[in-house]
Amino acid sequence: MKKFLRETNLDTDRFRNGMAQLTGAVNIIATRNGDIRSGLTASAVCSFSAEPPRLLACVNFSGNSFQHIAESRCMSVNVLAQSQEHLAKHFAGMLGENPEDRFKFGKWTELVTGAPVLQEALAGFDCTVEEMLVAHTHAVIIGEVKEVIVNGGKKPLLYLNKAFTTTMGHYDDLNLDYSMSPWY
Ligand SMILES: Cc1cc2nc3c(=O)[nH]c(=O)nc-3n(C[C@H](O)[C@H](O)[C@H](O)COP(=O)(O)O)c2cc1C
Repeated sequence: MKKFLRETNLDTDRFRNGMAQLTGAVNIIATRNGDIRSGLTASAVCSFSAEPPRLLACVNFSGNSFQHIAESRCMSVNVLAQSQEHLAKHFAGMLGENPEDRFKFGKWTELVTGAPVLQEALAGFDCTVEEMLVAHTHAVIIGEVKEVIVNGGKKPLLYLNKAFTTTMGHYDDLNLDYSMSPWY
């Protein structure tokens, strides 16, 4: 039987350079653990299933936010617009303030679970944590979506080639018809 080696000699930079060509939507994952709010910028987020509504996020478990998500068992996933690049930088720790201060930026509300939800996000998904799988440095978290806010109508914030970018389309003030979506 063929054996697959767990570790390879692949250079990490080659992996990073390859992954840098995978354009990602930029999101903020946020949680509330008692009095403490915590959140991080994350591109490793995707839909998992529509029936039942579940999403998936990959979070480094050595970070601040993972510990709070694991304890609170709730998180929001907030899809950012291009105009929210400053929020992405704050929540990635690129601008250097302490984690609680990240919430000084943007308007935050709560829906069902108690996790902070960004009111002006393109979309905000309020979730409880259904499953967590920890492997190596990261946890794959499956969120059970309890509530969704949809704003849409603005250009998305994307991350490509280690830089923030957006699409060419004109999205401002579009009145999107979600009934046309093939998925939902
Ligand atoms: C564009 C971008 C995408 C990122 N995606 C992820 C991600 O998917 N998962 C993750 O754990 N960290 C990701 N990070 C790094 C975290 O945002 C960063 O390490 C943050 O400071 C972690 O905060 P915490 O210590 O509160 O968890 C990303 C950073 C950037 C700039």
